[in-house]
Amino acid sequence: MKSFFIAVVAIAAVLQPCHAAIKVAAGQVNSTTGASAVDTQNQNVDTFLQLMSQAVSQGAVFIDFPEFSLMGSFEFDLCSSTFTVAAFGEVIGAAGHRIDCNGTGPLSRIGCSDAAKVLHVSYNTVENAAGIFFNTQVVVHNGVIVASYRKYNVFYKNCFASPQLELITFVVQNTTFGIFTCYDILFEHPKMDLVRAGVKYFSYSSAIPLIGADAVSLFGAENGVNVVSSNANTGQSSIVDHGLTIAQAPSGGNYVVVATLA
Ligand SMILES: *[C@@H]1O[C@H](CO)[C@@H](O)[C@H](O)[C@H]1NC(C)=O
Ligand SMILES: *[C@@H]1O[C@H](CO)[C@@H](O)[C@H](O)[C@H]1NC(C)=O
Ligand SMILES: *[C@@H]1O[C@H](CO)[C@@H](O)[C@H](O)[C@H]1NC(C)=O
Repeated sequence: MKSFFIAVVAIAAVLQPCHAAIKVAAGQVNSTTGASAVDTQNQNVDTFLQLMSQAVSQGAVFIDFPEFSLMGSFEFDLCSSTFTVAAFGEVIGAAGHRIDCNGTGPLSRIGCSDAAKVLHVSYNTVENAAGIFFNTQVVVHNGVIVASYRKYNVFYKNCFASPQLELITFVVQNTTFGIFTCYDILFEHPKMDLVRAGVKYFSYSSAIPLIGADAVSLFGAENGVNVVSSNANTGQSSIVDHGLTIAQAPSGGNYVVVATLA
């Protein structure tokens, strides 16, 4: 309880009143499955990198990607398909740590890319923490781990461990973003803790259409907040400005949605 209180205070102190409009992007990814877990990740990282380049050319400084979109048709309810969850696991360092740019995994390829010199990139991955696997949303920029959030309200409990509650935020151009993931949108913690701490911008990634564009719009309207939302289903990724959906992906394959949030 004590550490939880400290976390809230720390976030309130981080908030910057002095931010300009910010151009953000949400990625829609038609996640593909390859011959191995590594091949699957590589194919989908290729897609991420293409969408990141498009986002940069449209002037965005932030992009997020949907939950599970590195993993193709992995069957989460079984916690495996052809591949195991362990085969997708990557070690994520603490916030502030430099990424090993000689690495070949998603963290290195995304975090050390040219586009990530411009963009803060928020993507969902399987975090391998000494053999314990978390559903983690990691934010990278210019070769550095900016933040990582372990999904608190775990849906596939056979696949992922339940972490301690942490309120995770990061700053892009003086704008403080909070993170929560998919199923979290139906729960008080950490979602409303972040709102109460004054967070007005969110990076949200999700996998099922039920908590896609409509649920995000409702969350935004109820709390007067802005959301960059990437959903694994087609036509569900969106950008929400105080509850108003100002951009939404069309049905189809890979796509980047870009909009300016005041
Ligand atoms: C990465 O590669 C460069 C050049 O090959 C090398 O100088 C450097 O030590 C390597 N870094 C790590 C962390 O392996
Ligand atoms: C961030 O805020 C500082 C002052 O608080 C201001 O000087 C600077 O221009 C701001 N930067 C951006 C990108 O808004
Ligand atoms: C996703 O890609 C597969 C091929 O990998 C294709 O068959 C399918 O039509 C694509 N789906 C969408 C919505 O574009």
